Amino acid sequence: MNNDIKEILFTKNEIDKMVVKIGKQISDDYKGKDLMLVCVLKGANMFMSDLMKAIDIPVEIDFISASSYGHSTISSGVVKFLKDVDSSVENKHIILVEDLVDTGLTLKYLLKNFRNRDAVSVEACTLLDKPERRTADVLVKYKGFNIPDEFIVGYGIDYAEKYRNLPYIATLKPEVYGE
Ligand code: PRP
Repeated sequence: MNNDIKEILFTKNEIDKMVVKIGKQISDDYKGKDLMLVCVLKGANMFMSDLMKAIDIPVEIDFISASSYGHSTISSGVVKFLKDVDSSVENKHIILVEDLVDTGLTLKYLLKNFRNRDAVSVEACTLLDKPERRTADVLVKYKGFNIPDEFIVGYGIDYAEKYRNLPYIATLKPEVYGE
């Protein structure tokens, strides 16, 4: 698996530091408030599990699974819920936790969907951002690293469902994805 890697963009240590920084910001901003983190599966699962450990205020967690209709590598902006949250979002402050914002279409849809429920507030947090690729106008309150417009894998993120278990974030060799 490591032979398929072109370049490590962020080491485990660099990711850990960023996650601690974001966790501290969230802890400061939501002190005294009923906070629920909603992990957008599957890619955000590793980020979510580290982020919740970096938050030192009481927090509920829940999970959604969303997939965009259409071609697998291009987001269509129409999101299908494969799994919704189990608990009510009523009277809670919600943060949607994403691994990556690319076009922004998925997050825009999810923010709108959750803002139509009875939460007190709904914001978003992403570890990675590809600003060059953005087509949707979406405000992300908490952002980790900016990344180039390349295939990236690791720390929860897949290519063809593989590489999610890498502890770092890396680019793939072009021959792996057939260029
Ligand atoms: C990725 C990522 C976001 C979405 C971002 O999920 O986790 O949800 O794509 O793309 P966008 O900004 O262009 O809408 P993916 O559909 O790959 O599913 P996964 O997390 O289960 O791998």
